[in-house]
Amino acid sequence: MSSTERVRVCEVAPRDGLQIERNFIATEDKIKFVNALTAAGFLEIEVTSFVSPRWVPQLADAKEVYSGIARGKGVVYSALVANERGLTAALECKVDKVAVFLSASESFSKRNINATIAESLVRVEPVIKQARAAGLPVRGYVSCSVRCPYEGAIEPSRVVRVAAELLELGVTDLDLADTIGAAVPKDIEMLLAATSSIVAVVDTTLHLHDTKGQALACARMALRLGVRRFDAAAGGLGGCPYAEGAPGNLASESLLQLAEDEGFASGVDRSKVIEAGAAMRRCIAARSSA
Ligand code: HMG
Ligand code: MG
Repeated sequence: MSSTERVRVCEVAPRDGLQIERNFIATEDKIKFVNALTAAGFLEIEVTSFVSPRWVPQLADAKEVYSGIARGKGVVYSALVANERGLTAALECKVDKVAVFLSASESFSKRNINATIAESLVRVEPVIKQARAAGLPVRGYVSCSVRCPYEGAIEPSRVVRVAAELLELGVTDLDLADTIGAAVPKDIEMLLAATSSIVAVVDTTLHLHDTKGQALACARMALRLGVRRFDAAAGGLGGCPYAEGAPGNLASESLLQLAEDEGFASGVDRSKVIEAGAAMRRCIAARSSA
């Protein structure tokens, strides 16, 4: 392995890190957070979600946040999009990339987006097609790729079925999410063995949450198996409001350290990531005590 081989980290804290926070964080603080993450050197940042504010009130200011950020050269600023209405708003904000989200679990799908898996495929089809027609890359998340908070263990074959449908509809990258941080390294090995039949491991993104302190071990296993794209959140912020017991995402600073220890470059300044995460934690604490 060359010492210059790269790992690409998509920083998801502004979206996945904040969506669970009950007290509204000022739009200005969210903008500063994204700008600090840009300064840290991330090449991809998931800025916000264009979803129903009834469902995720924290991100009701998606347009303002998106319009307020200072875009870095060559940085991809993506956004989660729930439906065609969300896509229209996202296109108005000139997003660089769209992310659609499905689940391998029926129960989670119903709770998260009020639709079955089949209904959600119908819902995302025009989103994917219109985004691609507008020249944008589209990420396709598969939530509950290892375990569902309501159904328990999820067979890798169920993940493959949903992932294959997403690829068929035109997503440009596939993101396998361990929504509740249930995975141990063996689960990641089995998952990638299954999904490698439809997408190369090197082109797969892994989205880990850190519930049992196993996320880093899972990332190490994934790196050794050939994964080069990960999502992570500064300060380990986050969780999904519709996944009980889903705590923070894998912390970006821990993932960056792991990548470095394993001989990979990321181009991201870890100390700036730690600072950005700490500053956002102070904002969250200030809102909680206000
Ligand atoms: P619904 O209630 O079935 O549908 O929600 P609706 O069409 O009746 O919409 C409800 C209300 O939202 C209506 O307003 C709509 O107009 C409005 P009302 O008439 O009640 O005043 N609305 C919108 N407003 C703004 N922008 C929109 C939009 N769409 C509808 N785009 C829906 C269905 C999909 C909209 C809803 O369930 C939703 O927005 N869900 C999003 C849930 C979410 O964001 N969850 C967290 C992200 S997923 C995640 O964290 C997992 C991930 O990190 C990977 C992993 O770890 O697994 C990605
Ligand atoms: Mg997540």
